Amino acid sequence: MSFLFDLNDTSLMYQKPKNLTEIQENNKYTTLHDKRKKSREGGGEKRIENQHQKGKLTARERIELLVDENSFNEIDAFVTHQSTKFNMSNNRPFGDGVVTGHAKISGRTVYIYSQDFTIFGGSLGRAQATKICKIMDLAVKTGNPIISLLDSGGARIQEGVASLAGYGDIFYRNTLASGVIPQISVILGPCAGGAVYSPALTDFVLMNKENSFMFVTGPEVVKAVTGEEISFYELGGSEVHSNKTGLCHLVGETEEETLDLVRKLFSYLPSNNLNDAPLEANLPEVNNQKILRDLIPEEDNEPYDMKGIIGVIFDSDSFLELQEDWAKNMVIGFSRINGNTVGIIANQPLFLGGAIDFNAADKASRFIRFCDSFNIPILTFVDVPGFLPGIKQEHEGIIRHGAKLLFAYSEATVPKISVIVRKAYGGAYIVMSSKHLGNDINLAWPTAEIAVMGSEGACRILYRGKLKEAENPDQVLDEFTNQFKEEFANPYQAAELGYVDKVVFPEETRNEIIVSLSILRNKREQAPKRKHGIFPV
Ligand code: HXC
Repeated sequence: MSFLFDLNDTSLMYQKPKNLTEIQENNKYTTLHDKRKKSREGGGEKRIENQHQKGKLTARERIELLVDENSFNEIDAFVTHQSTKFNMSNNRPFGDGVVTGHAKISGRTVYIYSQDFTIFGGSLGRAQATKICKIMDLAVKTGNPIISLLDSGGARIQEGVASLAGYGDIFYRNTLASGVIPQISVILGPCAGGAVYSPALTDFVLMNKENSFMFVTGPEVVKAVTGEEISFYELGGSEVHSNKTGLCHLVGETEEETLDLVRKLFSYLPSNNLNDAPLEANLPEVNNQKILRDLIPEEDNEPYDMKGIIGVIFDSDSFLELQEDWAKNMVIGFSRINGNTVGIIANQPLFLGGAIDFNAADKASRFIRFCDSFNIPILTFVDVPGFLPGIKQEHEGIIRHGAKLLFAYSEATVPKISVIVRKAYGGAYIVMSSKHLGNDINLAWPTAEIAVMGSEGACRILYRGKLKEAENPDQVLDEFTNQFKEEFANPYQAAELGYVDKVVFPEETRNEIIVSLSILRNKREQAPKRKHGIFPV
């Protein structure tokens, strides 16, 4: 038998160098493997354990919970800081305290940065800021939303002005990205000092109920400067920002719930200002629209829950309320009708009789501007007795704040539909998406009362002389008021003048909205050419 080669041939010894190459190659792979492992370890086991002991998840665990399984694609994992002072050159952990990359949520691309508290307390130095800016630039260039998961001690003290510059670069990008891609900030730990201004510049702020706080100056500084003593939570916890400042849009009981809320919120949003919001394919059964008539009380001063009406008209369980506990007299949120995202703004008669105060005006105007920037039709439900009277309101600037609402409605060019459910009085009639501010379709229910003011107040002014002379002024006032109500407290004068396009039965409203949205789908409206208007902030 002949062999092609002799097994004892020494030339076979040449396999050795080949093996060496393999070993060298293996070493290269091992290096990458090791570096990746090191990078994933963040600040190390002990710090991860500390993080867990504080009841907090790590930066990577949070991303995993937020995005579709195995969809996260990290970039810049090996970035380290280049700082040398304070012995920093001996401590150069991979990632520099932030995990950045892109992923999918319900199959749609998002860009993410998640601060890693286990590395320098997540503090922001030059390298971390550069990573974040890279991700933000990519998000804007590709037209995808950016989500930040924040948990940081603020500006990295060791890096001085370089870290302040980093914040400045982020704020600048937040501003340029505004109205181009949705920006969502999720506060899952400390967010202190100037760092708070990045979330404040973004479109939505979500907070975890415990363990998250935001303030410009912390309790220690507050005590030193003003002598006031206060805890972290009382100064800037989730309750403060959802009840008092209105900074926070949604609060989750746990980190898991907070991240779930991000996914939910995201489901209503388009990826950028040129796209439409995704259509929900699974349509629920339509609610029985007849029950709407029962939700409006007989008496025009009796309160009722406007959210009940919204819940019936729109797709079942599709209403996601935002800023629920702040300025409760104005309800805002996203909902769906036949699977299409809409933005809802509604007066809430349960609080302050639905009157507009300075906070309510702010709340609605910002939301209108978001919807307008992102092609989301605006649906307004009106039951408003007027602007809230009082010294506090006047002195806090109800004129300036109310002007924001007029400005926001007037400049919005997306489809705008309004439904006057009950009261629409005075200046508040005009401001709540009236025809005069460019609203497209104005509907009113037979229960609508459109007037300069409430009937009784009007009669007190109109018939002051007669009431003075009357033997029984209360009875006379009642009579005048009833007459006035019959004459004016209805939608028909407005319908005669064309300020209301259609008076509809409550049960017809859903269908009218669907039809109106379909005819407005191709609406084109151009504002006069200018750099930008001067929003009355
Ligand atoms: C560098 C920081 C840091 C910071 C925390 N660390 N904040 N390192 N720069 N800003 C480090 C700590 O030294 C510690 O390192 C690790 O992170 C964890 O911090 P702890 O204090 O052990 O954690 P905890 O008890 O949970 O307290 C968290 C904290 C606290 C409340 C955030 O660390 C704190 O008060 N930090 C300072 C916050 C602050 O004043 N930042 C500057 C804000 S001014 P080791 O090695 O011990 O684990 C600002 C200006 C921005 O940000 C302006 C932008 C325009």
